[in-house]
Amino acid sequence: MLLQTLLLVPSFFLAIFSNAAVLVDFQVANPPPVPQDTKQCTIQILQRDFAFSFGLSEIVQYAPPTDCGEPGSWAGITLNFTVTSNGTQFDRLGIFTFQNVEIWRTSTPEPTRGDGIIWTYAKDVTRYTPLFAKNGTFMLQLDNLIQTGLDGVYSTVLHATFHTSSPTHPPAPQANTIIPLSTLANDTGNDASVPPGFSINVTLPRNAVEVYAELYASGNGNEEFWYFNVPNQFLSALPAGFALGQGPFREVRLLVDGQVAGVAFPYATIFTGGIVPTAWRPITSYGAIDLPTYFLDLTPFAPILSDGQPHNITIDVASADPNRTTLQNWFVSGLLQVVTDSSSKPTTGRITSYSADSFAEVSNDASIASNRDTVITVKATRNIHIEADVTSGSGETKHVVFSQNLSYSNVQTYLNNFNIQNVFQTATGAVVSTHNQVQKVVDTFSYPLGINITNITPDGRSFKSVFDHSYDRVLLPAPFILGSTIREHQLADGFFNVAPTGNTGNGTSQNQLSYVDLAGNTYSREVNAALNVITLDKQSGSLAPVQQTSLQKATVSQKEATFGSVRLPGGKRFGV
Ligand SMILES: *[C@@H]1O[C@H](CO)[C@@H](O)[C@H](O)[C@H]1NC(C)=O
Ligand SMILES: *[C@@H]1O[C@H](CO)[C@@H](O)[C@H](O)[C@H]1NC(C)=O
Ligand SMILES: *[C@@H]1O[C@H](CO)[C@@H](O)[C@H](O)[C@H]1NC(C)=O
Ligand SMILES: *[C@@H]1O[C@H](CO)[C@@H](O)[C@H](O)[C@H]1NC(C)=O
Ligand SMILES: *[C@@H]1O[C@H](CO)[C@@H](O)[C@H](O)[C@H]1NC(C)=O
Ligand SMILES: *[C@@H]1O[C@H](CO)[C@@H](O)[C@H](O)[C@H]1NC(C)=O
Ligand SMILES: *[C@@H]1O[C@H](CO)[C@@H](O)[C@H](O)[C@H]1NC(C)=O
Ligand SMILES: *[C@@H]1O[C@H](CO)[C@@H](O)[C@H](O)[C@H]1NC(C)=O
Ligand SMILES: *[C@@H]1O[C@H](CO)[C@@H](O)[C@H](O)[C@H]1NC(C)=O
Ligand SMILES: *[C@@H]1O[C@H](CO)[C@@H](O)[C@H](O)[C@H]1NC(C)=O
Repeated sequence: MLLQTLLLVPSFFLAIFSNAAVLVDFQVANPPPVPQDTKQCTIQILQRDFAFSFGLSEIVQYAPPTDCGEPGSWAGITLNFTVTSNGTQFDRLGIFTFQNVEIWRTSTPEPTRGDGIIWTYAKDVTRYTPLFAKNGTFMLQLDNLIQTGLDGVYSTVLHATFHTSSPTHPPAPQANTIIPLSTLANDTGNDASVPPGFSINVTLPRNAVEVYAELYASGNGNEEFWYFNVPNQFLSALPAGFALGQGPFREVRLLVDGQVAGVAFPYATIFTGGIVPTAWRPITSYGAIDLPTYFLDLTPFAPILSDGQPHNITIDVASADPNRTTLQNWFVSGLLQVVTDSSSKPTTGRITSYSADSFAEVSNDASIASNRDTVITVKATRNIHIEADVTSGSGETKHVVFSQNLSYSNVQTYLNNFNIQNVFQTATGAVVSTHNQVQKVVDTFSYPLGINITNITPDGRSFKSVFDHSYDRVLLPAPFILGSTIREHQLADGFFNVAPTGNTGNGTSQNQLSYVDLAGNTYSREVNAALNVITLDKQSGSLAPVQQTSLQKATVSQKEATFGSVRLPGGKRFGV
């Protein structure tokens, strides 16, 4: 059986599997939709073992390759991040910053001891072509700690592959300039910690005619499980210390000179130490290795932003509780993709209609039964509508409309004397911008998430959990992305027992992903795992590997199944 399956495995997997029991972790995702039939140039950007690396980012100088056509003329660019680790370690956040722009936020799978783990992720970074066309500084912040009980080192290597353009694969469309909305630090990842809101002055070219924003945001510390937080007014209904406050609603806001220009209802990324670490091994939760980002059209503000003066752009994360602050911090950053007019004359025009409240509209409700069974419901809606006339220096006027209709609901149910804790959250919405009726930014999304946690022992040290998480998103090709439809569904469960003699647990994961884009690329994958073993793996579509990877068997014995930590809603943290 094993011999037969190994024969189908591509050679790079054979290399990996020569060490028979190394666990191959991965996040389900479509392979980057870049051309495979043109010349490719691959360069190594960095190689670094992240041992004790807190505050010690990897910082390297980048120069574009010169043997794959004129720098910037590529049809596509991908990054390949390959990491091994052996030991006990937390999941860690990784921030890739290039030319002071965050271009990828990742997190690490928690390793096992013995043969350890390996993962590879191929990331499409074509939309950042203007950055890759020039020399510059590349930084990877991966703050890892080595201390008693934590010895896992993350050994990383990052390559970039440039796909030359050709008559059939023209150079990828690109902005004229990319402007960071970041801390601009030169010695560490350029994300900012909020609250308070992060503000930066930006001065745009005077001939900026289209301006698009991309936002990065993830909750940290007591904001990791923000969707399990409880409105302060209902905290007293729960046992003391059971849950955290400031409610479960979060919106990432972008303001221009203090005015809301657009918002994102974030996707809830579950990191691999989250709730049941064994559920995320070897298949991570969706988004853990490649956190989703959010797109807004700021073109209505182009006449203001191109006046030659600095403008104050703010990114913050608001809760629904009365003072709108979060409990702890989020890491945020952003960037502006700016298109300039062929004329050097300034852009003019004005906002003709502006409707955006400072914050989302929210309602809270709780029902508490006599046996203390509790249901807490939080709902939110958000409608933004901004219109502008934008006249380029060459004299063309476009009527620009940016509209967002978002809705959110979070229901938390506490049963059986608080031994059952269920959450069902969903964020859905439509984001559309048009320039003279032509659709530009379109983001239609639905992120339903159900998590049920059941205590097996009343002290909560032995528990099981079920996860039902989806990512359904339709994006059109602005800013400089390939418009795509992704439908992803993950069902995972697991059991976990926290013990001084070593944590134990198990998990299963079922995943379905379908991808189709406007260039006609398709991909679908159905992949399941149970107890660290892949039990089903079917891939198809134009982006699927030619030789389909077959079932990979990696058995991790209980002894090797070490866990850096388990983190739970309510600020609970077990383990080292
Ligand atoms: C970019 O870096 C390369 C390699 O260090 C160097 O040869 C080249 O002169 C630099 N180009 C510019 C424009 O600074
Ligand atoms: C990614 O890089 C790793 C390590 O350098 C290599 O083994 C693997 O083949 C690469 N994968 C792809 C898809 O390029
Ligand atoms: C992993 O680390 C352990 C020591 O903790 C060592 O015994 C083992 O050989 C290492 N495994 C690999 C594959 O390097
Ligand atoms: C980083 O910036 C600071 C202040 O702008 C400067 O003093 C320092 O030399 C810079 N460091 C590097 C490595 O460029
Ligand atoms: C932004 O620019 C304005 C106007 O030049 C200035 O008053 C303000 O201090 C600047 N703010 C920051 C944070 O640099
Ligand atoms: C920028 O805007 C934010 C949000 O309105 C505000 O809190 C901050 O004080 C402003 N900063 C400057 C320098 O004007
Ligand atoms: C916001 O309100 C909460 C609860 O009332 C309080 O704990 C927190 O300190 C407040 N934060 C700020 C910045 O006022
Ligand atoms: C939002 O709702 C309004 C009012 O129903 C509608 O006119 C607008 O087209 C909607 N916008 C989006 C992006 O769906
Ligand atoms: C959680 O439990 C509720 C109530 O039994 C059920 O409707 C829901 O489907 C469960 N969620 C998951 C993810 O299993
Ligand atoms: C996981 O362990 C629990 C507790 O021992 C057990 O009830 C469950 O059947 C196990 N799950 C699998 C998939 O083996």
